[in-house]
Parts: sequence; structure tokens; C-alpha cells
Amino acid sequence: MLVVGVGMPGFFDNPHSRVPGAAGETHPIPRLGIPSVVLADGPAGLRINPKREGDERSYHATAFPVETMLASTWNREVLRDVGRAVGEEVREYGVDILLAPALNIHRNPLCGRNFEYYSEDPLLTGEMAAAFVKGVQSRGVGTCLKHFAANNQETNRMLVDTIVSERALREIYLRGFEIAVRRSKPWAVMSAYNKLNGKYCSQNEWLLTKVLRADWKFKGFVMTDWFAGVDPVEQMKAGNDMIMPGKTHQINPNRKDEVEEIVSAVREGRLNEDILDRNVKNILGVLVGSPSFEKYKYSDKPNLDAHARVAYRAGAEGVVLLKNGGVLPLGKEAKIALFGTGQVETVKGGTGSGNTHPRYTVSILEGMRKRGLRVDKELAEVHVKYIDEMRAKEEYSIKEGMFGEPFVPRLPQDFLSEEEVERFAERDDVAFVVVSRISGEGYDRSPEKGDFYLSDDERNLLERVSRAFRKHGKKVVVLMNIGSPIEVASWRDLADGILLVWQAGQETGTVVADVIIGKINPSGKLPTTFPKDYSDVPSWNFPGEPRDNPQKVIYDEGIYVGYRYYDTFGVEPAYEFGFGLSYTKFEYKNLEVSKTGKSIKISFAVANVGSLPGKEVAQVYIRAPKGAMDKPYQELKGFHKTRLLNPGEAEEVEMEIGLKDLSSFDGKRWVLEDGEYEVRVGASSRDIRLTGTFTLD
Ligand code: BGC
Repeated sequence: MLVVGVGMPGFFDNPHSRVPGAAGETHPIPRLGIPSVVLADGPAGLRINPKREGDERSYHATAFPVETMLASTWNREVLRDVGRAVGEEVREYGVDILLAPALNIHRNPLCGRNFEYYSEDPLLTGEMAAAFVKGVQSRGVGTCLKHFAANNQETNRMLVDTIVSERALREIYLRGFEIAVRRSKPWAVMSAYNKLNGKYCSQNEWLLTKVLRADWKFKGFVMTDWFAGVDPVEQMKAGNDMIMPGKTHQINPNRKDEVEEIVSAVREGRLNEDILDRNVKNILGVLVGSPSFEKYKYSDKPNLDAHARVAYRAGAEGVVLLKNGGVLPLGKEAKIALFGTGQVETVKGGTGSGNTHPRYTVSILEGMRKRGLRVDKELAEVHVKYIDEMRAKEEYSIKEGMFGEPFVPRLPQDFLSEEEVERFAERDDVAFVVVSRISGEGYDRSPEKGDFYLSDDERNLLERVSRAFRKHGKKVVVLMNIGSPIEVASWRDLADGILLVWQAGQETGTVVADVIIGKINPSGKLPTTFPKDYSDVPSWNFPGEPRDNPQKVIYDEGIYVGYRYYDTFGVEPAYEFGFGLSYTKFEYKNLEVSKTGKSIKISFAVANVGSLPGKEVAQVYIRAPKGAMDKPYQELKGFHKTRLLNPGEAEEVEMEIGLKDLSSFDGKRWVLEDGEYEVRVGASSRDIRLTGTFTLD
């Protein structure tokens, strides 16, 4: 039955699939000449098994930076290039549809899968996703936008009821999907696990038919997330065309066999066959264009070397320089003392279905060595030895995660004595301290020490290093190898530089080394706010009520998500949305604003007035007049990443913003308020360099 897929027995990766490790397939119907079509994750690169039984060859795929880091590039071309590279791997490994991109909004920094999502802002999310989808689909394979919608936590994700106003849905949680659907025509959409205002997303006709198809004109097909929802008949009626992975009753006793249930519903007159025809038509309409239908002879040999370069370039544009007290870039001769076990156990990305199996991951230590940086050898060896010893203990041994990926317990970081640190401070020129975090599917992060906050041992290490190196007039840089914000305000004074290197995929180490020596001038900007403290976060009730087993999560903060909240309610973040430093300086000038019919034209120039070549992300925020509806202080309505500007060079930037995009949803319709609007152009949401106005009546 075409409306029910195949994914068992590997649950999330079927070892018996035509492409082992792919998350699922559609049912073949040989009688009608319909082949099965292969579906595989995910956002940071294709996830399939790298090895096959009885087969000497390997099937590794490139590990690209995680989505949050891709969004930090603010560069549509980078996203398109990454999409093209992933798309080639999808096609050449015999897969038809990539289960990505993921577009859920960063409602709370602790969502365990935030690294798989782009941003707290729907415009940035939608633009990045659309560029990625276009790239992937240019290779003749499909994408699947997920998880539709308002799946902003992992805790109880399969049953939690997300209660959220239609305004917040339309303006924040659905908006990114809408942009991507309209602009890039994805082949498929994956409905989310959670309930939305009382109904499972996969059984929610309003969401899947009214909004997605009637309002946005989506033409592809909808599949469930794996094992989502409880009622196959309701799923069919709601417009959820395909149920994945099929046979879900085997692991969920609350469910009946989908095929039996659908057949008996038709027989008993509970389900009109026209609905099934409609759903089958939606699915087939897409599948006929897939490589499997066209009997494409894939090579199993994508160009992994070329794609490694794409992954590197994406990482190079996504690193965010958060602090630089005259320490970076470093001369190549500087002697480096590298602290923290993350230098060896560098985190390339998160766990779960968003994991990848690349040929290699360049750790931070390896990257520095590869680029010829002078890393203190003894200190590196001490780390390697410590890690080996600790991992041999049961408590710290590496276990297997939910998707077969390694689960690596965090190691205490303050294993060096004060005297030992002092010795390195005497002989080396600068200290780097790596702080790593990993999270993933199936659980949320914790608002405690060791996750959102530094653990005591991490803080001890940083204090020791800072004290010792500063005593000798030497500087300290923290490298944050993380997938989602952590608290920085209480310790940032201990560091002279902070580099947010995110989880940059297989090339993490090379990217880091090249940023340190200035071969790469950082040009990433934050796609999500770093709050000063967890208590400042607006989604105070995350992950819902009751806390230990939430059945319901109420999005009380409404549209005030991320900077929309911090800016409107005067809460100062540690690092604001859109923030990121460079090794050079940019000046903004000549803002012009004009109204033309249904849009606003904005132009300005960005000049490099510093001494090194660099790229700048110019952001345009609009502040609406006070009208009948509540409005955030400002909202991102456009952005542009410049080309590499040499010192003295300038780029003219032109943008057009549709008036419709300035409207707000009043619960029934989109409303555009009269009055004077302020155009705010800047280098971050709180570093506005130019302002202008226009009036609407
Ligand atoms: C995840 C999806 C993924 C699917 C198949 C689910 O657990 O939520 O994002 O595509 O598994 O692996």
C-alpha cells in the first residue's frame, strides 16, 4: 500500500534497505511498475551506513556543519552549494529524497535538536532552507521539510500538546516553512510528532491541508515523522499522504496495523476512497520524477573530495568571533598551549538522525598541526593520555546512542594542577581552551552546570589557565565547540578572545586553525541569541507541564521569541541576534529608502575600512508604528552578505521588501498598520548604523 512506507526492522535505519542505513522506503508495486523510493536523513549530510556486510567498499558521506552553523553564514550561496553537494551524494548513493532541511524555530536554547535547526528567526530560517532545497533539488533528487510544525523540544515529543496562538504560528513557527514552500518547491514535508492545539500534527487537517496546501499552494506530499500519531485513518483524512515507517503497531501497542486499519475503514464506510486516491496521487506525482523511477544508475562514488572543500567553505563562513581583545589572528610562530579534551574529541555535530558518517573528522588538535601551528606537544600528549585512561573506565566509556552513534560521556576538565598549568604559561605564548557540548535527538539539554552553564571543573580549568597566562602577560582564547547557546556572561572576562566554532562537521579542525591564523577572516553572525542567564529566556515554561512528564506546553510568550522578546522587553543578552566580529572594520553609508507600489526599496553601501579583506552580513530590521496590534520592537526583514571586500572597497546593497511581509496576523487575517515605519540597517540587531523612514497610509 503506497500510503504506508517501509522502515522496519531497523526502526530509524533499515539495514536491509536497498541503501543500508537509509531511514525508510516507499512500498514498491511491481504489478504497476512502481519501484520503491529511498528516503534518508538528514540536515548535516546524508546519513547512511558507511559499511555494508560482506562488502569491502565504504559508503561514507560528507559531514557538513550543523544547520545552526550554516545559518550563521547568512549566505544563501553557501547554503545552495552545500545543498548541491549533499544532493549529489543523495543521488549517487541511490537515495531519492533527503529528510532535510529541518526548520523548527529555536524557541528555547535547551531544545536538544536546535543544532539541526537554523535560527530563532523565521526569515533567516526560510531563506536558508529555500537556498538549501534549491541546491539539493537541482540534482534531481528531493528534499523533505521537517518537522511540521512547532516541534520545539524533545521532551515527550511524541505526545506533548503544543498550545500556541495562530498569530505566533503564522508569524513565527510556520513562517519559515511558508517561505521555503513558496520559494523552493520541496518535494515533501514531514509532519511532526507533537500535537498542535489539541491534534497530532500528522492528524491535523488545518495544518496539512488548509495552511500547507490551500494557503501556501504546496504541491508535494506529506509523510509522518517515524512512528508519529496514533490514528492512520485520521492521518489519511488530514492530508498526511504517507505513514512512516509502516508497521508501527509493532512498537507502539496503542496503534493498530495501518494497512488493516485503513482497509477496514474503507470497507466500513469510515474512510472515503477518494481521500486515499488523493493521497496516492500526491505521492505518485512526486515519485515519478525520482531517480528510482527513472532507473538512474547511481555510481556509489560521489565526489567526496570536492564536497570536503564545500564543507570547509561553509564552516569558514559560519565561525562567529564573539570577543577579540587584540589576540586574533595569531602569528604562525606563536607557541600554543591547547587545553580541554575537546581538542581531541572534537564534536563534529549532534547525535540522532542528524548524525553523519564521514570518512574522517579533523579534530581541533589535528587541524592546528595540519596547518603547521606550533602546538605544545607535551600538553597535547598529556590530553591524549588522559582521554585514553578515562575512556577505559566504565563510567566514562563510550557507549552506543539511539541511532548507533557513539555516546561520549563528558570528562572532567581540571585534571592539570596549578603548577602544571604554570609551566605551560611560562613557555607558551597563548592559551586556547576548548569547551565542547553535544546534544541530540530524543532528549533536551539541561539548564544546569555541565550543559547550559560551565561545569565546576571547566570553570576551574579556565580560571587556572587565565590566571597563569595573564600573570605572564599572555592571552587566553576560548573555542566554543557547541551546537546551541551556553551561558558565557559569568566567565567571558576570563578570556581575551572567544571563538564560536559551532560543530563544523568533518573539517572543524582545519576551519578553526585557519581562523586562528587569519587565513579565514570570521564573517559568521549569530542566528540565535546568547542570553545572559537561563532565567532570562522568554519560554519560561519549557518543556511544559508537568515538568517531569509534560503533556502540554503553552507558548505563553506568543510572538516574543528570541530577539523579539529581548529587544521589546529591555532584556540585555550576552550576545545579541546577528552579532559577530571580524578582523576588519565595516562602515555603513548612504541609506536610501523609497516606496514603490507594493514594496519598499532600500539601498546602502558597506565599506571595508579596516586593514584586512573580509565579508560583512548587513541586516535590515523594520520597526513598525504603534497601531492596533502589539508589535515587537523590531523584526528582521532583509539581509545581505557582501562579497569579500578588500580594505578600501565598498559594495552597494539593494533590497526590496514586500509590504505584505510587514503585516501581522490578527488571528483571522494579515493586517498592515498605517503610519511611519523605521528602517534600521546594521551589523547586528543591536548595532544599528543607519536609519530611515517611510510612511504607509
Ligand atoms: C526524526 C526525523 C528523522 C526520522 C528518520 C525521526 O526520529 O525525528 O527527523 O527524519 O527519525 O530517521
